[in-house]
Amino acid sequence: MNVKHLAIIMDGNGRWAKARGKVRTEGHFKGVEVVRDAAIAANDLGVEVLTLYAFSTENWKRSADEVGYLMKLPALFFNRFLKELMEKNIRIAMTGEMDQIPADTAKVLTSAIEETKNNTGMVLNFAMNYGSQREIVLAARKYAEEVLSGKRANDLEVDQFDQYLMTSEFPPVDLMIRTSGECRLSNFLLWQLAYAELEFIDLPWPEFTAETLKERMEQFKKRDRRFGGVKG
Ligand code: FPP
Repeated sequence: MNVKHLAIIMDGNGRWAKARGKVRTEGHFKGVEVVRDAAIAANDLGVEVLTLYAFSTENWKRSADEVGYLMKLPALFFNRFLKELMEKNIRIAMTGEMDQIPADTAKVLTSAIEETKNNTGMVLNFAMNYGSQREIVLAARKYAEEVLSGKRANDLEVDQFDQYLMTSEFPPVDLMIRTSGECRLSNFLLWQLAYAELEFIDLPWPEFTAETLKERMEQFKKRDRRFGGVKG
């Protein structure tokens, strides 16, 4: 089975930098280059949607300096790589709440989304100011409003809930990779990961390569996904 939707928690930038006597932001800087490599590799491997956890709702708790730097990453990334992404027919998307994102960062994201909106290749989706529990609560509110306004009955089924989520246009996640050794989901795509294969790898994000991705995708193909059923 192919990976249609690949999701990645890009962890370990800070630790990678610290281990080299560098400041944390240098890890994020290196991480941006790895985003480019991962996106190009995923596109070449036939992935339809690549969702990257770039900034969680919990990341606001970091120092003002670090938050400020993380908010500059989209500009850094698109200035360097948007041309190449365009050539590869890649479309940029964002999952998360744009409202609280600083205006200049929001502008950079919005214009990359706009510029690539007619591209028909892989979707490179950045989860920015994103938290899955909040996404689910907002979806529940949206549904409740429809019921209260008489637009629909109180008859929601599991397979209809996706349409209220921020990722409604994407298929469920097939494979989720988290770098840097932690085995947790950190409030990332909890609903969408229901039947995903999970890979926790020891490498920190700055050391993740196209080769690593290829390997993991090969592994995925060998797995027997039964979605709760029995092997046929
Ligand atoms: C986690 O490492 C990483 C982040 C919070 C930021 C990840 C973002 C990027 C790699 C680039 C995003 C690119 C764009 C274009 C938006 P950490 O700092 O938590 O590492 P640590 O656990 O070692 O401290």
